[in-house]
Amino acid sequence: MKFKANDVREDFLNFFKKNGHMEIENLSLIPQNDPTLLIINSGMAPLKDYFTGESIPPSKRMCNIQKCVRTIDINSVGDPHHLTFFEMLGNWSIGDYSKKEAIEFGWRLIKDVFQIDTSKIIVTVFGGDKSLPGISADMESFEIWLNYLPKDRIILLDADSNFWGPTSDTGPCGPCTEIIFDRGIKNGCGKVDCGPECECGRFLEIWNVGVFMQYFMHEDGSLTKLPMNCVDAGAGLERFAMILQGVESVYETDLFIPLIEVLTNKIDINKNKREIRIIADHVRASVFMLADGIIPGKTKREYVLRRIMRRALLYLTILEVDCQLFWDVSQVVIREYSCRYPELKDGEDFIKNVIFSEITSFNKVLSKGLRELDRIIKSSTSAVISGDDAFKLQDTLGFPIDLICEIAGNKGMTVDKERFNFLLEEQRQRSRK
Ligand code: ALA
Repeated sequence: MKFKANDVREDFLNFFKKNGHMEIENLSLIPQNDPTLLIINSGMAPLKDYFTGESIPPSKRMCNIQKCVRTIDINSVGDPHHLTFFEMLGNWSIGDYSKKEAIEFGWRLIKDVFQIDTSKIIVTVFGGDKSLPGISADMESFEIWLNYLPKDRIILLDADSNFWGPTSDTGPCGPCTEIIFDRGIKNGCGKVDCGPECECGRFLEIWNVGVFMQYFMHEDGSLTKLPMNCVDAGAGLERFAMILQGVESVYETDLFIPLIEVLTNKIDINKNKREIRIIADHVRASVFMLADGIIPGKTKREYVLRRIMRRALLYLTILEVDCQLFWDVSQVVIREYSCRYPELKDGEDFIKNVIFSEITSFNKVLSKGLRELDRIIKSSTSAVISGDDAFKLQDTLGFPIDLICEIAGNKGMTVDKERFNFLLEEQRQRSRK
């Protein structure tokens, strides 16, 4: 294998260190002094105060590999490139270099160090957006890219694709430019207008090579200028590994092969099945969250962890295997990742205890909930589970709505989420009073 994931990590860091960047610590997934954010979701999240000028960075040029969790795409996990936990390769300029250097660094790394076939590269640039009338299209980046690529491979897109941040409701943000790898027609929808904004999977974003942090977004959505221009760049290690190892998904990289193997040794199933990938992803995310001291619970980040753990447990249950397999995969995560993340090995006993206690409580909830859900499904005269039934299951039995939807979906049914959300909101109002 030409580029093992660890080579990608090392080459990335060495490249930026050679170019004057200080490697900074990879921090806990629990945000420090940031009540606006539940879990670290990008490399820049712990560095926000440097962008606003509230703190002085140890160097104006920095780089690192940061643990991140994002659950916004949890329902896409299992496709070729979505994950809940990922390692972000990040580089930053705090009032130092700007667009020209950020783009040049990006180009040199992918072409000279990683030797990616540049005929498959296209880039996107902020092209302006009606919702941001004061911010014009980033023609400066467009012009810079013309030094490396023909005009037809530099695509101007709106704010949805090319305006990044903030990490929560407020914070630093700005227009960005992204490097996209074209995986070819066979990996896409084949439509004539298919392009980098299409969700079909042909065009894979591999690097947000520069968020040009120029603005601060306030609670009302208004933007004010930041005191200096900064660059925030981030790439998912897993996607780089996928491209560099020439495989069709992040789950076929060396980051996942040993995890998937434990599962397929015990379950008679194709290794590329979505269920297997979901379990592997969710166990990996859970182990990292537990190692940082998060415990599964009912609210906030504790709930995020519980949801991820229970989703993995649910899929193990659907595949009719013992939930103990969760721990078997966890041990492989600890073995494979501890070299870089020693907190996993250090926390092994704690991680094990929490996993087994969560398995016990999941099994209790599951057996009661499944019995009740089965009764509801059997007595239902339509393909929709009512919002009232779903709410009752969650409220009285603690059977989470995601699991209800998942099980219903597997039986070709849907849940009336609108009514469910209405009842949930009603209950919230009541408890607020
Ligand atoms: N913070 C930017 C991102 O996550 C680089 O895409």
